[in-house]
Amino acid sequence: MNKLDLIRKSKSLFMKWNLHHIAGSLEGGLLNLAYMSKLSKWRNDNAVTGYNDWYQQSWDYSRRINLYKSVLEKQGLAQVPIDYIEFGVSSGSSFRWWLQHQQHEASNFFGFDTFEGLPEAFGPFGKGEMAASLESIGVTDPRATFYKGLFQDTLIPFLDQYKSENRKLIHMDADLFSATIFALSQLYRFLNDGDIIMFDEFAVPTHEFRAFQIFADSFYINYEVIAAANNYLFLAVKIRKD
Ligand SMILES: C[S@@+](CC[C@H](N)C(=O)[O-])C[C@H]1O[C@@H](n2cnc3c(N)ncnc32)[C@H](O)[C@@H]1O
Repeated sequence: MNKLDLIRKSKSLFMKWNLHHIAGSLEGGLLNLAYMSKLSKWRNDNAVTGYNDWYQQSWDYSRRINLYKSVLEKQGLAQVPIDYIEFGVSSGSSFRWWLQHQQHEASNFFGFDTFEGLPEAFGPFGKGEMAASLESIGVTDPRATFYKGLFQDTLIPFLDQYKSENRKLIHMDADLFSATIFALSQLYRFLNDGDIIMFDEFAVPTHEFRAFQIFADSFYINYEVIAAANNYLFLAVKIRKD
């Protein structure tokens, strides 16, 4: 038996003997280790050209505001009309920040969420956690529109009528691998040079990082890392098409 036949045979036997019963218990840990290693290498290979607070001894969620300010000011987003598209609005904390700090009257703000919480578990958070009703957000700015439901149901109809005219600032804050890879892959055909994608949980290896890495590798995305905060938990990349 040659080497290729041996590999094929071992795969068939793995399935024939249902070895997932044994190996399955290691799956989560091994996947986490593999993506932690990929994340560490990715950090080493990708220089951050703008704001970066690496390395911090302690974790502070409020540091994401430093990243927002840096993206707004350094990327010249304050004075031009933009399309801000947020995936994962929850109680609207980040959404309101961008509404308040990006004042151009021709800007559009689109927010997507179930508004009924996470559709599946995320680490210690169970399905349904992070729920905040659309009414409780208290946004009255006429530039804002919300889309209630799973991204998997709301995004395609939205994109069918979306006119991509303004520079885009896309905010991925849905935490989950499934939600992030779905949204990124649907947005792919609308991405232009200079569009920015921000991540709120980038340093969670098997979720937002895994989704971005698979997306960037599979769609051959060129990008520049323009900002990182809180030891890469918050990240911003700029799409490069030159
Ligand atoms: C971390 S919270 C968002 C936090 C918010 N940006 C803030 O600053 O307060 C994540 C949100 O993503 C939403 N979400 C995750 N996956 C989703 C999906 N597939 N479709 C719709 N909403 C989703 C959840 O409902 C949850 O409200």
